[in-house]
Amino acid sequence: MLKFSIITFGCQMNEYDSKLIENLLIHDGMVKASDPETAEVVILNTCSVREKPEKKAIETAKYFKKRGKFVILTGCTAQQKGEELLEVSDAVVGTRNFSLIPEIVKKKITNSAFLDLKKVCTFNYLGRSISKVLEYVVIQEGCDNFCTYCVVPYTRGREYSRSPEEILSELRYLEDQGVREVTLLGQNVNSYFYKGMDFADLLSLIDAEINIPRIYFTTSHPRDMSKKVIRTVKGARVLKPWFHLPLQSGSTRVLKDMNRNYTKEEFISLCEYIRSEIPEASITTDIMVGFPTETEEDFLDTIDVVEKVKFDNAFMFIYSPRNPSAAYVKFKGKILSESESNKRLRKLISVVNKNILERRKGMLGREYTVLVHGTSRKGRGFSKGKTENNITVVIRGTFLEGEFVKVKIVNIKGLTPIGEPV
Ligand code: 5AD
Ligand code: SF4
Repeated sequence: MLKFSIITFGCQMNEYDSKLIENLLIHDGMVKASDPETAEVVILNTCSVREKPEKKAIETAKYFKKRGKFVILTGCTAQQKGEELLEVSDAVVGTRNFSLIPEIVKKKITNSAFLDLKKVCTFNYLGRSISKVLEYVVIQEGCDNFCTYCVVPYTRGREYSRSPEEILSELRYLEDQGVREVTLLGQNVNSYFYKGMDFADLLSLIDAEINIPRIYFTTSHPRDMSKKVIRTVKGARVLKPWFHLPLQSGSTRVLKDMNRNYTKEEFISLCEYIRSEIPEASITTDIMVGFPTETEEDFLDTIDVVEKVKFDNAFMFIYSPRNPSAAYVKFKGKILSESESNKRLRKLISVVNKNILERRKGMLGREYTVLVHGTSRKGRGFSKGKTENNITVVIRGTFLEGEFVKVKIVNIKGLTPIGEPV
């Protein structure tokens, strides 16, 4: 039997797509190799949001090609670079064309690119491999926002929403398999819209119909996060209060250059509103330094927002020019020096971490129900899991993935709360 291996770069959307690709190939009688070295076919699901993961995927493709594998490139870089990647692979398959992969593998179709962005994805979730605690269901795909730094609208195409019936049936399927935690996925979940049903309506429906104990959603656009959504989460049964709200920059002027459509003050009041409605809510974010028009003063605005909002977690990046985004076209060569970017990033990380620590200290002495995700990197005798509001906690003791454990936070190590079962 033909052995394949899928290597995934980038975000949760790619993780989800890789599961669907795996499912298609298994349905067609192929088997998953335990190691890509022993596979005949290697599929690389690529990410193009920044330069580093993109380069890494291309290097990996070259490596496996040299070793005589049948190499397929799919995902965002495949979509964006298209035919030119045929130099390092046998076939290039765009983000909405992966249902063609079994055919390409079976017929060993080489030197071809399949890049039709108008196609609607097939969601062959029945029978796919499932994890108890790290499951995803795509509700919306594509992005029409065109933030000026971002390549996603070019790699994932125009926005479309999946029907509520389809979403519910995939959720019911996961519920029947005993899944404990699901994240609803989309590039911009707040813009979900299907025949008169908006995102808050969809959330209410899911909350009424589905009994998976913990349901989250990501990613939200701060501009589109409505009070209706926040109040739906507040009154919910299974929807849990974690909000991922990418700030990107704290400077209103830079936000304008980024085409984000909110101001510094609007972002701060949104977070204040969430915390006043749902005090236990956690708020996490993505922040970028070194956008071409960012001055030292703009950067200090970002620091100011971090100090005011006090995020529960943050992913932080240095701006990476992405072709053909608007900022790439406009500013091409103009980027902040590497040393200055690094300096800003280091400063940002230290202020973010100081505030995370402050938030974590507020957990000391309090009790939380933790959903166990597995063993902790701390080693034997420790497990790791998550609170309802999605904060990672290390628990003393060995517990099974998917178990709920009531713990009291007794210590903070680095930024990680340590819990003692009660
Ligand atoms: N450079 C650096 N970071 C970027 N992101 C998106 N595009 C870029 C880019 N060109 C970051 C944003 C986004 C996260 C997924 O990746 O912060 O929220
Ligand atoms: Fe990119 Fe902006 Fe769309 Fe997010 S909302 S995927 S940052 S264009």
